[in-house]
Amino acid sequence: MGLTGKTVVLCVTGGIAAYKAADLTSKLRGAGAEVRVLMTASATEFITPVTFETLSGFRAIVDTFDRDFAWEVEHISLAKAADVFVIAPATANVIAKAAHGIADDMVTTTLLATGAPVVVAPAMNTGMYDNPVTQQNLATLRARGVLLVEPAAGRLACGDTGRGKLADTAEIMHVIERALTRQDLAGRRVLVTAGPTQEALDPVRFLSNHSSGKMGYAVAARAALRGAEVTLVSGPTALSAPRDVAFVPVASARDMYDAVLSRADAQDIIVKAAAVGDYRPAEEHSEKIKKAADDMTLPLTRNPDILAALGGRKKPGQLLCGFAMETRDLIQNAQDKLRRKNCDMLVANSLRDAGAGFQHDTNAATLLFADGSRETAPLMRKEELADLILDRLLELA
Ligand code: PMT
Repeated sequence: MGLTGKTVVLCVTGGIAAYKAADLTSKLRGAGAEVRVLMTASATEFITPVTFETLSGFRAIVDTFDRDFAWEVEHISLAKAADVFVIAPATANVIAKAAHGIADDMVTTTLLATGAPVVVAPAMNTGMYDNPVTQQNLATLRARGVLLVEPAAGRLACGDTGRGKLADTAEIMHVIERALTRQDLAGRRVLVTAGPTQEALDPVRFLSNHSSGKMGYAVAARAALRGAEVTLVSGPTALSAPRDVAFVPVASARDMYDAVLSRADAQDIIVKAAAVGDYRPAEEHSEKIKKAADDMTLPLTRNPDILAALGGRKKPGQLLCGFAMETRDLIQNAQDKLRRKNCDMLVANSLRDAGAGFQHDTNAATLLFADGSRETAPLMRKEELADLILDRLLELA
């Protein structure tokens, strides 16, 4: 999402993992980025420029003194054009040069000239990676604000086992997206709830709802990408936990209540996107209930209202954002919830709006604020709505 229209200058340096940069090029382009590939001369021993030219749609540049290019000073043009500068794989040699400002080829001269955020994904033999000089060079780059994508551990191409395998493409893409994202939530602690709750009736049955968790997971993922320290308390869903969040799985409303309330005081922002069951079976049977009569009445009892409890004990400066899912009288019901539960903001969505609410990748909502103002959010991807919610919460902070 954050890569559309961005220029990624991808530098490929000479290691066996150079072939994996082809996949990275293809995925970056698929995500909407323009990819300009630079290669060290030794990288071309492992994979040819033609591969990158085919995948990126641009000529791959290797030699500083190549005279076939239209641009007058190629490395300066690319240094300026870059929204993000990526070295993947980065050898010990190029890391050492980067740490010490040595500029003796296209990759290192362009790196020295760029003002774009830099992402470095090391890949090398484990002994080279663990060598204190490499570690010191990496620490120098980290201290300078370079984002490092830690290599994975495993069996390396040289036969050794240890750290040094190039991180997988998804991980590198994630760090690139982070480099392109304004860290406007850095230093803030954000707790998000997501998904349904499950209220057990007996060992085989439960009461639940249709929440997929997509809305809450989108808020958690975007908040983490924007630099927040995020805790995601989630009911059972089919989704994987987003990267860089502390994940707390729960099942029932009472589990969610305990998980949220015990962490609430440490949070700057709490977003309650979960669809919490209002009632649970009055009794949880220890054995499977057998069928008997044609009719059966199931006594239910009220669950604690987590949002109301949070609203009742809000710390000064803490922001509380609730959701309301309605099938009728959306604004009226949402306004009532905002006031009763002492929220700063409430996101009202209706099951009656096409593409909104449960399960969809999109949502449409009205944002209601404690001062009585409102904002309409038309149908958009849940990630975009998550960003809008976080933008508005930051404005209230
Ligand atoms: O998960 P998805 O498939 O992506 O769907 C997203 C969603 C529709 C679940 C989400 O956008 C949404 O609307 N979540 C809130 C659903 C809901 O439970 O609404 P409600 O009107 O019943 O509750 C109002 C608020 O009180 C919510 O913030 C809810 O988390 C909270 N609540 C409700 C009951 C309860 N016992 N404790 C609570 O904290």
